Amino acid sequence: MAEVVVIGKNGQLGSALVEVSKSIGISIAAFSKEELDITDLNKVNRSLKKEKPRIVINTSAYHVLRECEKYPLKALEVNCTSVSDLALICKELGIKFVTYSTNYVFDGKKRSPYTELDKFNPLQMYGLSKLAGEISSINNYPAGTYVIRTCGVYGKGKKGSRSKKGNFILKILKEADSGGSVRASKTEIVNPTYALDLADASLRLINSKAESGIYHLASEGYCSWYEFAEHILKAKGKKAKLIASENQISEYKIPPYSVLKNTKAKKIGVKLPYVFDSLEKYLSVI
Ligand SMILES: NC(=O)c1ccc[n+]([C@@H]2O[C@H](COP(=O)([O-])OP(=O)(O)OC[C@H]3O[C@@H](n4cnc5c(N)ncnc54)[C@H](OP(=O)(O)O)[C@@H]3O)[C@@H](O)[C@H]2O)c1
Repeated sequence: MAEVVVIGKNGQLGSALVEVSKSIGISIAAFSKEELDITDLNKVNRSLKKEKPRIVINTSAYHVLRECEKYPLKALEVNCTSVSDLALICKELGIKFVTYSTNYVFDGKKRSPYTELDKFNPLQMYGLSKLAGEISSINNYPAGTYVIRTCGVYGKGKKGSRSKKGNFILKILKEADSGGSVRASKTEIVNPTYALDLADASLRLINSKAESGIYHLASEGYCSWYEFAEHILKAKGKKAKLIASENQISEYKIPPYSVLKNTKAKKIGVKLPYVFDSLEKYLSVI
């Protein structure tokens, strides 16, 4: 029996949750996609009945934007239907349910940090499927579902994770090392978030007296991806030329501004570090 079950243990956030839980003495059972696929409801049911945790944390996602456009039903299955079924199972078993969503539920027109109460309007299938997952899981289990929206996650991660395939930082460093120029958007404004800080803040939030519902947890402050890249190159002493990338016409749209404001979490004393402080921490361990 474990106190917390983490789904998606090899991902950036999943592996950070395992690391932080262990460091603060929370007993945890963590599953990879191969061990526990959230689309396999019977297995999920059996595993949770066996583990009898107090909390389930779902970090899984179908999140490659291009693939979500190409396979919308798959995006809906992983990001919505399975998440809402998982909420229902947790309700039946009396388990607190935590799942993650994205800054891409917003369209970016506000041009100032988005609070939990702001109007959503996703511009692409990924954001739409995550939003559908938010709504349906909260509908299924209003008293016990915590939806945590975050932004631009980077972390260690293992096999199959976003970090293995290359989070933004690793991609910038790889491009710089290959000798060519490096491109990043000057017009997309975000608050990139370190998985370890997100894991730590999530556990503090869940273990507080916070009511169920939607919470934003992302780094304090914000920047363009260009400014973030500039900082990475400087901190690592790379001489590569940084070029502001053009907005490309593609099959999906990205919000030009999607900074999240952690209004509700801050009210209960859960804060995250500043964008560039977290970045320094991550750069010192890779
Ligand atoms: N990364 C970002 O920039 C970002 C931004 C905003 C919100 N978020 C949200 O934050 C959460 C964590 O993201 P992350 O960056 O940690 O992603 P990640 O590194 O890709 O980790 C996700 C993990 O979930 C696993 N997974 C995928 N489909 C699954 C399924 N059907 N059943 C069980 N596990 C499955 C993946 O395994 P495989 O790789 O083997 O498929 C992977 O290990 C996600 O909900 C994401 O939508 C992320």
